[in-house]
Amino acid sequence: MKHLLFISYLCFYTFVSWGQPNLPKSQIFEKGVVVSAHPEATLVGSNILKMGGNAVDAAVAIQFALAVVYPNAGNIGGGGFMIYADKKGNISALDFREKAPLKAHKDMYLDEKGEVIKNKSLYGSLAAGVPGSVKGMAEAHKKYGSLPWEQLIFPAVKLAKEGYPITERQANLLNEYKERFLKYNQTPNAFTSTKAWKKGDIFIQSDLAQTLLRIAKKGPNGFYKGKTARLVRKHMKRNNGIIATKDLKNYNAVWRQPIEISYKDYKVITMPPPSSGGIALGQLLKMVESRSLEKIAFEDPLRYNILAEAEKRVYADRSKYLGDPDFVKVPLQGLMDSLYCTNRMSNFVEMHATPQQEINYGMPEGYESTETTHFSVADKNGTLVSITTTLNGNYGSSVVVEGAGFLLNNEMDDFSAKPGTPNMFGLIGSKANQIEPNKRMLSSMTPTIIKKDNMPIFALGSPGGGTIITTVFQVVLNLLEYKMDLEKAVNKSRFHHQWTPDLLFLEQNQNDESFVKRLNNIGYKIERPNFLGCVGAVQIREDGTFLGVGDKRGDDCAAGF
Ligand code: DON
Repeated sequence: MKHLLFISYLCFYTFVSWGQPNLPKSQIFEKGVVVSAHPEATLVGSNILKMGGNAVDAAVAIQFALAVVYPNAGNIGGGGFMIYADKKGNISALDFREKAPLKAHKDMYLDEKGEVIKNKSLYGSLAAGVPGSVKGMAEAHKKYGSLPWEQLIFPAVKLAKEGYPITERQANLLNEYKERFLKYNQTPNAFTSTKAWKKGDIFIQSDLAQTLLRIAKKGPNGFYKGKTARLVRKHMKRNNGIIATKDLKNYNAVWRQPIEISYKDYKVITMPPPSSGGIALGQLLKMVESRSLEKIAFEDPLRYNILAEAEKRVYADRSKYLGDPDFVKVPLQGLMDSLYCTNRMSNFVEMHATPQQEINYGMPEGYESTETTHFSVADKNGTLVSITTTLNGNYGSSVVVEGAGFLLNNEMDDFSAKPGTPNMFGLIGSKANQIEPNKRMLSSMTPTIIKKDNMPIFALGSPGGGTIITTVFQVVLNLLEYKMDLEKAVNKSRFHHQWTPDLLFLEQNQNDESFVKRLNNIGYKIERPNFLGCVGAVQIREDGTFLGVGDKRGDDCAAGF
């Protein structure tokens, strides 16, 4: 039976995916829509909807497809978060974040003088947390899925086995990371090829196809136990890694209580700890809600000023209080309390940057890139799914598990290796986010769903490390305050302040020099990254149709039917 399903699925898939998909960035559909960072994965998701699958089925299929076609961030060797909302009023938050291995300890990235050893939490097998994506998808499927599990994974198996044409962006990235792959992998794999990659080249991952097939056949046991687990263990032994059989066997994904924020006529549903995203988004919205933003022009420096000052205060709280709620007490209610948030802004003086006493850490490595990925799905039942998933840095730790073909994350860098020392995103942390065995590292990922009159209407999220929160925040404001349509809201210029470093990041090519001067004059030091975040969003419109919007900043695209 399973075999038959596989064959019939392959026939269908081959038929519908003939040739390279050329999908729009933004389009309206009648019955359902998906947006993801790669056309092949977008197509996989929309085909699942067409075959009668629901939004969770499509999301599961997209997660596995992205592990193949978007390997710099899509993954089975990483983790992420999912937000779910349906028309019946059910909402859920699924935490499939990686965990520190049992052998991890708080000083594992420090030298004998107690200083952080450069790159130790970033590259190589020691940088990896215990992967959560496969368990996460299995949990999501168990609770909400309607199509058979293997049917959702076969498209990924096929893409890995037969290969797919890479986009220009992907070719450039593979070329850029070549040296790193060669440095951190002892045995050859798909990523260690020394060829000069170019757009349209076919990327084949045979080992990964076998691993995905084991997952298709055996569920999460095909990853956390049996052959895949043995390959991980063998790999760890040969490469000084510490993920043990027990770590894999014990990994669990957790359903958590989503954060619900009331904002004017809307409800914003988002991710609780171990992501900092939901609390931070809640604080930000509460800090600005009473400031009549809709009356302040989008390009008025005052808008930048109000938002940046709120962001600074929120990131200061983040660094102090947030960590894995299974290990530390996070004052969730206190931080999102309206009065607390208003008081946090009480020393804010309009058109004035509140002075910073903190050290300026400068522009950290990898700050501008989009190594995480977000995808959103809407189905004909009016259900929305919003998933942000990551390996952390581009291609995670750069390490491919020998014989298993998948990249390991470098999520351990999201812990605070030493209190006050910034991670790759320049974010600092305290004891709340120090490394402990089995603990989840703090995240900024903010998959979000917005409801109106109790109906889910928007799903959105973004990559971007510490900038994810401000990206989601600003797109939410564009929608709810400035009443922009979804495409405009996603593509509008963005900016970011995270308290430390004391810099206001303004996207390149937006805001001319005279505008930048005005911000300088009120006390902001400015940096110009190429872009901030990369949003994938869907909307269920008032007339019941479905709109998908992929950010102009990436390869993100929409498909549906
Ligand atoms: O969980 C986090 O917040 C980070 N590991 C996300 C990394 C990320 O967004 C990288 N993309 N730029």
